Amino acid sequence: MNEQELRLLLAELAASLFARGYSVGSAGNISVRLSDGYLITPTNSSLGRLDPARLAKLDADFRHVGGDRPSKEVFMHRAFYQAREDAGAVVHLHSTCATAVSCLPDVDASNPIPPLTPYFVMRVGRQMPIIPYYRPGDAAMEPAINTAARDARAVLLANHGPVVAGKTLTDAVCAAEELEEAAKLFLMVRGQSPRSLSAAQVDDLLRTFG
Ligand code: 13P
Repeated sequence: MNEQELRLLLAELAASLFARGYSVGSAGNISVRLSDGYLITPTNSSLGRLDPARLAKLDADFRHVGGDRPSKEVFMHRAFYQAREDAGAVVHLHSTCATAVSCLPDVDASNPIPPLTPYFVMRVGRQMPIIPYYRPGDAAMEPAINTAARDARAVLLANHGPVVAGKTLTDAVCAAEELEEAAKLFLMVRGQSPRSLSAAQVDDLLRTFG
């Protein structure tokens, strides 16, 4: 897709996320890799009302070169792009259930949500750690995200929300939606000894669907 098509798609997918309650107010930010840099949502913008022409443009070194002032969390996106060659887009949300899981003190912080369903495994993968709390916009979280992102397509920022990478913009958005559903299921069945997929079933899904 060319830059203009990606601008339109980003605004369309962001509006869809907003309309369905995955993001409220001006929460969340989305970026996509271009051949010569990146597009990212402007800081303090609502995902429901983005102007495709005013998305912030960054060069290949993540410097602001066009459009409105970029998200204050450019470094969060940069951490994923620099850790993962396969990252073509990154979505950060404050979606309710994933954020709820990020607030739980008694979960396995290295991988809090078990593989309950195939699509969570297929979209998000085997591993999704919780990164310790940092203030939104605090660039100090970049090294922690970068390290985690080498082994994970998604992370949960403690008491803040998920950050999810995908090969394409559509993939990243689908993964963020699956993550939210998995978090909801996890909260629903927690304490009821739910059956998770076995290691062999997880391996089979990743072998088959990548
Ligand atoms: P920005 O408006 O700067 O992108 O920040 C929104 C956000 O989600 C903070 O976590």
